Amino acid sequence: MEKPSVKWFILFFFSFAALIPTLMASGGQDSDEVYWRKRGAEARERILKAYKPNPVEVIHHFNKKTREALERHLAETVPVNATGRRSLGAKYRGPCAATNPIDRCWRCDPKWADNRQRYADCVQGFGIGTTGGKGGPIYIVTDSSDNDMVNPKPGTLRHAVIQNGPLWIIFGGSMNIRLNQELIVASNKTIDGRGGVVHIMNGAGITLQNVQNVIISNLKITNIQKSTGGTIRDSVDHFGFRTAADGDAVSIYGSHNIWLDHLSMSEGQDGLIDAVMGSTAITISNCHFIRHDKVLLFGGRDGDSIDSKMQITLAFNHFGHYLVQRMPRCRRGFFHLVNNDYTHWLMYAIGGSHNATIISQGNQYIAPDLADKKLVTHRESDTPESEWKKWTWVSDHDVFKNGAIFIPSGDPNGAATYAALEKIKPAPGNQVTLMTQFSGHRACIPGRPC
Ligand SMILES: *[C@@H]1O[C@H](CO)[C@@H](O)[C@H](O)[C@H]1NC(C)=O
Ligand SMILES: *[C@@H]1O[C@H](CO)[C@@H](O)[C@H](O)[C@H]1NC(C)=O
Ligand SMILES: *[C@@H]1O[C@H](CO)[C@@H](O)[C@H](O)[C@H]1NC(C)=O
Repeated sequence: MEKPSVKWFILFFFSFAALIPTLMASGGQDSDEVYWRKRGAEARERILKAYKPNPVEVIHHFNKKTREALERHLAETVPVNATGRRSLGAKYRGPCAATNPIDRCWRCDPKWADNRQRYADCVQGFGIGTTGGKGGPIYIVTDSSDNDMVNPKPGTLRHAVIQNGPLWIIFGGSMNIRLNQELIVASNKTIDGRGGVVHIMNGAGITLQNVQNVIISNLKITNIQKSTGGTIRDSVDHFGFRTAADGDAVSIYGSHNIWLDHLSMSEGQDGLIDAVMGSTAITISNCHFIRHDKVLLFGGRDGDSIDSKMQITLAFNHFGHYLVQRMPRCRRGFFHLVNNDYTHWLMYAIGGSHNATIISQGNQYIAPDLADKKLVTHRESDTPESEWKKWTWVSDHDVFKNGAIFIPSGDPNGAATYAALEKIKPAPGNQVTLMTQFSGHRACIPGRPC
């Protein structure tokens, strides 16, 4: 998503206003433009508060938790002789193993389904404190249809996500959901796909616009397409006209405290996850991405100075088969990319511009075989070296294979940043295969470890 939808709306509004008086008169509400401007301004205030002035402390805390979790995992694992390590792609058949602090918090507990909301305590990184629908009732989605955008049918996912107040949304069984238009999620929600295979596919994507406190977990999200736009309800109290959406699988727009965990994502028309308009306090963890061109966009437009407030942790994700670029592509902001497994890219892994700060720690980067695609890092080509040399891009305890190269930059080459990071080291990059082994959607069965 790289464009504001408001502009198009105004055009539409003035050309057709006379024809749609009933639409605008609904509940005596503001025009859509005024409504979203107001919501945007409120969100901006909250974003400034959610921003952490000392992000290195967040990194230290994250790394400490991760190393402790890894050490405990290794201590309780019976060493397997010689060929015991998994080969890539082989299915794990051992007892439940949780290799990172987020997973250790819930995944091997056979009673995970008895107290689903405990999961909200598991997030680490910049998204820490995100509680989603914790404290609210459980809502069970039983109907996979999505036919009414303005008055969604009770039992559908769209009906669940527009409710007021905290809500913990689960699914009555495995289902495929084709969204007719963007699914506009209200604040204080958890979409918890554990317990089956919930597949959002072949339709529109999920939008988090000017909201706070949302958890999305354990879904498959594939083949998300552009939607036409139209009248869509975004809360119990409001619906309005939306322009066409670009086909981002998950679009995070001017929102904060967002945690995306254990998603399997592939083949969208635009981005798989976009975080723009200063979206901050975000953790994206344990996801598995495959078959896609522009994977993650953090910061949508050059002029959005609010993006300097973006703080995102990207951890324990597996960037797999047939990915091309943008894992992520960053503008401004502060990004902790830690303990991810980059096994495939066709152009580059990490790109950026506009003084984005990129702290890469304990990742594994396996370059493609092509001799001219070994660079992990990509600076937008219109930036002179004299400029990008000032951006803090550091690589710390990363592992590079098949000739992968990370070109650091910053004061000079990030020296001050390295000194600050040195206090608490990350879990090492050579353990990343283990730490991301269970990434992506998991079909958890109640009563059993997941
Ligand atoms: C594993 O290797 C160790 C040392 O080489 C040996 O003492 C032990 O018997 C082996 N264990 C098994 C289960 O093969
Ligand atoms: C979400 O929860 C927070 C914290 O309880 C609260 O301050 C906020 O008003 C809620 N937002 C909405 C839209 O309900
Ligand atoms: C670039 O980002 C760093 C870290 O946020 C900040 O200290 C610095 O002032 C920024 N430089 C410019 C030119 O905006």
